[in-house]
Amino acid sequence: MEFPFNINRVLLKKFVKIRQNLLPEGFSGDRRISGDFSPKISDILDEMGRASAIAQGLQKAVTSGERLRNSDHTVYLLIDTEGKSGEGSVVGLLKVGKKKLFVFDAAGVHHEVQPLCVLDFYVHESKQRMGCGRALYEYMLSEEKTSPQYLAIDRPSEKFLGFLYKHYGLEKILPQSNNFVVYEGFFIAKSDQV
Ligand code: ACO
Repeated sequence: MEFPFNINRVLLKKFVKIRQNLLPEGFSGDRRISGDFSPKISDILDEMGRASAIAQGLQKAVTSGERLRNSDHTVYLLIDTEGKSGEGSVVGLLKVGKKKLFVFDAAGVHHEVQPLCVLDFYVHESKQRMGCGRALYEYMLSEEKTSPQYLAIDRPSEKFLGFLYKHYGLEKILPQSNNFVVYEGFFIAKSDQV
């Protein structure tokens, strides 16, 4: 997705992590520059959030600048630094955050947990099925120091379910009474994994 400003000057890297302050993680500029960057980043989140909602057939966007500002969630963006004649374009968005959930295990026992949840995931239509989604997901996993089976997914689309099966072999879903999907392995302690 292209924007009417130079993405590379604002986002600086291929993978960008953004939290409440609507600035790239590690941003070290002064107030004048941050005052210029955060409205641009807010616009990027609004546009990508809107495109994601359309792609998923949702009435309302899950991601926007305003919503990120008022949450403790994290958005990861994937940038094509060579897009738009070297000014950069935004390829993908992945939003994660912790939520308190009641989740059934395989034996049907209810647990109160607060896992990291995948809340929004979108790759621009022109770049889907080219490995961009996986690259962004892998970046998020390494930043969050976790593995795919420990994440709860909010209302996954068929494409996302296919993605999780293809790249991570996730198949066996533990039935839940909410909109979240968790897989077998969710309750296995990290130290017990082989
Ligand atoms: N139809 C079926 N499966 C698909 C499709 C599709 N159109 N697109 C991607 N996939 C799955 C397949 O398993 C595919 O492997 P294959 O091409 O061998 O069949 C695999 O994803 C491809 O992996 P990547 O190229 O790494 O993924 P991609 O860059 O396409 O990103 C994503 C995956 C984010 C799901 C993307 O397809 C997308 O944006 N879809 C529309 C929005 C969406 O459904 N987002 C998830 C909503 S749920 C949530 O956000 C919690």
